[in-house]
Amino acid sequence: MTRSAVVCGLGAYVPPRVVTNASLAEVLDTSDEWIRSRTGIRQRHVVDPGVATSDLAVDAGRRALASAGTDQVDLVVLATSTPDHPCPATAPEVADRLGLAGVAAFDVGAVCTGFVYALATAAGLIAIGVAERALVVGADAFSTILDPADRTTRAIFGDGAGAVVLRAGSADEPGALLGFDLGSDGQHADLITVPAGGSRQRSAGGSVDEWAQYFTMQGKAVFFNAVLRMSESTATVLRDVGWTPDEVDWLVAHQANVRILHAVADQLGLDRGQVVLNLDRVGNTVAASIPLALHDAAAAGDLVPGQRIVLTGFGGGLTWGSAALRWPAVRLEPAHHANLTHLTTKD
Ligand code: UT7
Repeated sequence: MTRSAVVCGLGAYVPPRVVTNASLAEVLDTSDEWIRSRTGIRQRHVVDPGVATSDLAVDAGRRALASAGTDQVDLVVLATSTPDHPCPATAPEVADRLGLAGVAAFDVGAVCTGFVYALATAAGLIAIGVAERALVVGADAFSTILDPADRTTRAIFGDGAGAVVLRAGSADEPGALLGFDLGSDGQHADLITVPAGGSRQRSAGGSVDEWAQYFTMQGKAVFFNAVLRMSESTATVLRDVGWTPDEVDWLVAHQANVRILHAVADQLGLDRGQVVLNLDRVGNTVAASIPLALHDAAAAGDLVPGQRIVLTGFGGGLTWGSAALRWPAVRLEPAHHANLTHLTTKD
């Protein structure tokens, strides 16, 4: 049997501070009604001053390692587009703080598709024998790059982290990652961007003020591409692993907008109830979105071992990606359930 990467642990973390739609409406020209009806989001969690992406990643990573019953991996891959610093990568610090000093550790940048890209990267390194066990984390403190005056982005994005542990195993085991589809379209890089802060701006000179230092998104075009690419990519991975849409139990898609999730389900001929939904409680958490949704669905008892699961993401780049697996028996830490209770707290 071919050597494959197998999911054996799952953890998540969101910072405790909750920002409700009502509290956003106190400082911006928006309303709970607009945000709920246009996006499905009720609240999001945001970091307090001084808290960085690595802090979220360490918490989620620690929980994933405990879930897997191990404190040993030989690879850490962190998906993020809000690293603690432009240089170096954040993953080595996360590894060190988890007691994993010395292991291979690097960041993957694919914005909201980052977790799927990171998962594929780690699975590939396990498949070719470079690693036996990997910690794959998706973490973003996206609130730190939002324009405080931009009602559209502040309504959508939240902070958080999710993580899985992969181990070497075989393709016939539950949890084995059976197939991936990854893609990009750099022609539309400007639809989701932070224009300043990189080599383009630095080499051109001028002050940061002359460049936009905040995240910008062209919502309508992004919406259209998100539906198209997640639908196509999911269909591709299903074809690759030989599953028909009606054999899928759960679609765990990037949590950007409930209207996008429903449109993707409709395109694929899935029941809308088969799409995991937690964006109402956490908003769009970028690279954390998919593992956080996986975690919340598992903690709620919705994911049953043996079920057929497809992950699909879409984000800046543009980038997209999907993965298929049968759900494994994963033990979650009690803290996860406390966390979920917190997430479901009514605003
Ligand atoms: O994570 C990466 C992938 N990201 C996504 O997939 C996000 C995809 N895009 C979306 O989810 C939606 O396009 C948004 C939620 C961002 C925006 O929803 P929309 O239905 O596309 O609204 P719109 O941009 O067409 O704006 C409609 C109106 C505008 O006002 P006018 O020009 O009609 O007067 C906006 O200024 O809604 C206004 N608006 C708001 N009003 C109240 C935009 N944001 C808000 C807001 N509160 N927060």
